[in-house]
Amino acid sequence: MASNYHTVYEQWKSDPDGFWGEAATAIDWAKPADKIFDDTMGPYGQWFSGALCNTCYNCVDRHAEGGRTDQAAIIYDSPITGSKRTITYGELHAEVQALAHVMTEKGVKQGDRVIIYMPMVPEAAMAMLACARIGAIHSVVFGGFAARELATRIEDSAPAMIISASCGIEPGRVIAYKPLLDEAIEISSHKPSATLILQREQLGCDLIEGRDFDYAELVGSARDSGVTFKCADVKATDPLYILYTSGTTGQPKGVVRDNGGHMVALKWSMNAMYGVDPGEVFWAASDVGWVVGHSYIVYAPLLHGCTTIIFEGKPVGTPDAGTFWRVIAEHGVSVLFTAPTAFRAIKKEDPDGSLIGQYDLSGFRTLFLAGERADPDTIQWAEDKLSVPVIDHWWQTETGWTIAGNPVGLGLLPVKHGSPAVPMPGYDIQVLDDEGHPVETGALGNIVVKLPLPPSCLPTLWNADERFRTTYLEEFPGYYKTADAGYVDEDGYLFIMARTDDIINVAGHRLSTGGMEEVIAGHKDVAECAVIGIADKLKGQIPAGFLIINSGVSRSEEEIEKEVISLVRKKIGPVAAFKTAITVPRLPKTRSGKILRATMQKIADGEDWKMPATIDDPAILTEIGEALHKRGFGG
Ligand code: COA
Ligand code: AMP
Repeated sequence: MASNYHTVYEQWKSDPDGFWGEAATAIDWAKPADKIFDDTMGPYGQWFSGALCNTCYNCVDRHAEGGRTDQAAIIYDSPITGSKRTITYGELHAEVQALAHVMTEKGVKQGDRVIIYMPMVPEAAMAMLACARIGAIHSVVFGGFAARELATRIEDSAPAMIISASCGIEPGRVIAYKPLLDEAIEISSHKPSATLILQREQLGCDLIEGRDFDYAELVGSARDSGVTFKCADVKATDPLYILYTSGTTGQPKGVVRDNGGHMVALKWSMNAMYGVDPGEVFWAASDVGWVVGHSYIVYAPLLHGCTTIIFEGKPVGTPDAGTFWRVIAEHGVSVLFTAPTAFRAIKKEDPDGSLIGQYDLSGFRTLFLAGERADPDTIQWAEDKLSVPVIDHWWQTETGWTIAGNPVGLGLLPVKHGSPAVPMPGYDIQVLDDEGHPVETGALGNIVVKLPLPPSCLPTLWNADERFRTTYLEEFPGYYKTADAGYVDEDGYLFIMARTDDIINVAGHRLSTGGMEEVIAGHKDVAECAVIGIADKLKGQIPAGFLIINSGVSRSEEEIEKEVISLVRKKIGPVAAFKTAITVPRLPKTRSGKILRATMQKIADGEDWKMPATIDDPAILTEIGEALHKRGFGG
């Protein structure tokens, strides 16, 4: 079928309000918007002002009451614990009402914040939906973060309640969450008034009298007594959630998502982008702690009346590289969305794809990849082995949905390996040089989006309008700075090549090298340090830290390097995947004292590099090359 994309994109461009107003008719509103886009609100305007709505109502109630009562809403498949569970829309309706009841009994009110620090269990999604039902603002924190990171988020969002579990499970180890939670609350000056703890059979925990409550006990008794809990009317412009993401410092940015615009864009994307119909099974193999998990494990599939999969496992090792195919076959998954790194892991374990043939994948239609650049080798392998279209699409925590992609539902455009294809309606993408002038077709530059951003994109940062302006709006007036660099080719296809800031992408996880440097610099024997991302075949990038040790320290370099590695794990968490610390005598700098991280990265990746004209002492780069070489980096 010929793609309808160009027509739809032009429809949006010629009448953005008409376009999004039409898309909004797919949502049930308690009161429709006074204005589709209101440019008097927030730092650059807001969507659907004056409207009242409830995201939980649109995700759950209208399906439970509208003929999907017995359809599976959530399938929980956990190869790591050997358990499975199906929750219908009717059951989900009862569960979220019971949980919302318990939460309000413990003091949570509309507008309050609630932190959710949970592994991949259905209760994590239920907690998000219960917050939405009450009109409370959730902030989910990924389980692989350490106590200090959790504390930063508690401090910034000041939650009334924290919902957590006794443990998470990683291959080969059970992670006790409760000590991390207790430590985080201890460090933070803000204390939540209550916590709800889901006790898991793999490892239970003690509850602190008067503060910690047993999730299953309270929710179970509310459910058994048949409590009902009405959805609150919230403003479309009210925050649904805050999701913290890495910025250029150790202080994460609280990306705010509203209720109305978020629902409209996500609902629209399910058919237009993913080509999925209500009632089908959609699987995003990510984690609820990341934006992909928020948008495409929880909200979008449920808004659309699909069945979503909550998968607690890994692409390999739980138990093997055939797990994804088993889940697709067993649950009738039509569309899978994951990060390229998951496919690189599978390809490494099962290069011939021999496990694929063991499963019936006849109902599987499309594979979507995002979170990091999809390398052409991985796309080719997936196309060859699965014989379905493999679609790269580009987005950010800040947008909550696709910026550029190949819209399957509007009709597939030709696939170009290495490119996430074309801008979605709502995004007027430009490529500018550092002075803000458009570059020529095919030339590399800063990728920016002309304001206003479309529905679902962040209206601001939590409690930080000024940081929002300086981070995203100031450098290129009239545009949102994506902090990605790339180019547009002669067919209008976008190529995303690199970040323009110090963010690195490790196994599809976004990490701040600046944040790691702050931790390393806190080690008593470290005088100075620099962290860069080095290309890695499996994870895309891995962090490597260069240390200068204080003069007069007599302990061995190895000992200090080990301590630095465990310090990053303790302070940021295992997710930082920081395993390489290299002691060097000096760091390469410009004459004005700026560390030449980009040049160091090129050397580490074995790429061509030029001696920077402003370098203070060129010999230092040779030293860095030698130090990297000793550790097996640098080609
Ligand atoms: N709780 C606690 N620890 C966690 C965790 C969690 N939820 N998630 C990851 N970790 C730990 C891992 O166990 C690992 O610890 P280790 O250093 O002791 O081995 C560390 O954090 C690094 O994790 P990761 O970078 O994910 O590496 P991995 O070797 O465990 O797995 C992949 C590699 C490719 C299999 C894995 O990253 C993956 O499945 N990725 C899928 C893509 C994805 O989810 N992307 C998210 C955005 S779409
Ligand atoms: P996150 O906010 O964690 O989703 O990370 C967003 C960043 O990941 C983007 O700014 C890009 O640098 C990178 N990214 C995400 N998807 C893609 C993609 N399809 N191609 C290239 N880079 C991507």
